[in-house]
Amino acid sequence: MISETAKFLEGHYPVLLTPEQIQQKICELGETISNDYQGLCPVFIGVLNGSYMFTADLMRHITLDCEVDFVKISSYGDAMQTSGVVKVRKEIDCHIEERDVLVVEDIIDSGLSVKYLEKKLTDLKPKSLKFVSLLVKEGSAKVDYRCDYVGFRIPNRFVVGYGLDYSQKFRNLPAIYVMD
Ligand code: IMP
Ligand code: MG
Repeated sequence: MISETAKFLEGHYPVLLTPEQIQQKICELGETISNDYQGLCPVFIGVLNGSYMFTADLMRHITLDCEVDFVKISSYGDAMQTSGVVKVRKEIDCHIEERDVLVVEDIIDSGLSVKYLEKKLTDLKPKSLKFVSLLVKEGSAKVDYRCDYVGFRIPNRFVVGYGLDYSQKFRNLPAIYVMD
């Protein structure tokens, strides 16, 4: 029996972004961020689980002294739609007061997660707070949010791969696929 993962790899689902397109974009984002934060020592905060791959790859293109930490939140459960309630599963460990903080997201859909993190982290009084997201879905925002660095603007479809899951699976795929 063929695995669900193999079906993606064998072309049963459309590829939205190839590994090469993803890596090229991350290289550009890394250069831009390294330029913008010259002389500073930013703290990157990856948002688990979705952004673990993106955070790891982005960091490889940062040419500054920097730190990395992770926060874990969830709002989707195992569904394709946000539940609308953001829950913290793991807090950050680092102190961000007076630090330059850059939150690393995999994808922004409703904007609720980013909005929630903006409020939560602002309360900890960072010197600066910015957001980078590999993907931003067009036309799906439910709230106003800020995102300072965007990799790709994509159609309002459910996507998996490169860290993004459906029911915890398919994060391991090197490309990003449309699933719905
Ligand atoms: P938001 O709070 O609705 O903006 O959703 C943010 C989080 O939901 C993202 O960080 C993802 O973890 C997850 N998510 C949103 N859209 C998708 C998708 O198309 N595929 C997989 N996960 C998604
Ligand atoms: Mg996420």
